[in-house]
Amino acid sequence: MSGTVPHIVQYQGSKRILAPQILQYMPRRFERLVEPFAGMAAITIANAVQGRADKYIVNDLNKPLVSVLQAAVESPMDLVSGYAQVWNAQFSYSGGSISHFYKVRDDFNGGDQSPANMLYLLARCVKGSVRYSSNGQFNQSPDKRRHGTSPKTLKPNVQAISWHLNGRTTFLTSDYREVLETTRPGDLVYMDPPYQGVCNARDNRYFSGIEFSDFVEAVDMLNRRGVDFLISYDGQCGDRQYGEDLPKELGLEKVLLNAGLSSQSLLLGKKEVTYEALYISRGLRGKTSTSKSITQPLLFDKIAV
Ligand SMILES: C[S@@+](CC[C@H](N)C(=O)[O-])C[C@H]1O[C@@H](n2cnc3c(N)ncnc32)[C@H](O)[C@@H]1O
Repeated sequence: MSGTVPHIVQYQGSKRILAPQILQYMPRRFERLVEPFAGMAAITIANAVQGRADKYIVNDLNKPLVSVLQAAVESPMDLVSGYAQVWNAQFSYSGGSISHFYKVRDDFNGGDQSPANMLYLLARCVKGSVRYSSNGQFNQSPDKRRHGTSPKTLKPNVQAISWHLNGRTTFLTSDYREVLETTRPGDLVYMDPPYQGVCNARDNRYFSGIEFSDFVEAVDMLNRRGVDFLISYDGQCGDRQYGEDLPKELGLEKVLLNAGLSSQSLLLGKKEVTYEALYISRGLRGKTSTSKSITQPLLFDKIAV
């Protein structure tokens, strides 16, 4: 864990790897960090490790997901022991560990959405990518080659996260727009909505999708309130851009962060770098923690034209 930011479990779309790049565009100190689309809260955790904010607001529409984060922060040892119980049971389960996953999934869909069960499903499912059916049932399959993070690996990570966030964090499970309504100048909002490719209407990858026009309206409202914010929103791979740009009228600066070689392209024998877009609000210019202006490209970045 040394030198890296602690994390609980894999989560599709996690910004853990990009966190050091994203944090360069955030101020060194601010009052509250608000994450309306927190997922596994990689950016909140990275900021808390560096003690950048006094308070943290962690929100995600996915309640069981937020319950894992809340348990990690507020009752870390209960979460680790509850998880250890579920995780260990897979090795003695009569039908084997795959059947055990399906049993926990059935329990979860039947109403036992304890943080330990959710954490186990995340740890054990394919690529940490949650999938939901149209009636809200968790329907992702188990990763057949792995047993999921061991409780031994989990424990120091959860303890570290609790150490940095306990007593400073509020957990919410609202729609992002309700959370944005509560923001005020002095806050820093980091938004990482579901990708547009999987937005517009229901998104089975993330429990819920969002409408592009609603999102643009919400961003415009933040501008009018004078709240600083950053948005991770789609990007490009090779020559291909994915997702629609946010409108120019919002007055945002767009930088492209190097997210590494695309595994999809590698499978096709091509070496292409994936870039993830980061939009920065007007008010943040000159307040970032890098000594360079955000209009000058950093070494690993590419300013969009
Ligand atoms: C790309 S993921 C965020 C990943 C996160 N940055 C991380 O590092 O783990 C997007 C998240 O938005 C949540 N979400 C989707 N629609 C939402 C809504 N209307 N309001 C709040 N959260 C929402 C999903 O449940 C998902 O966890």
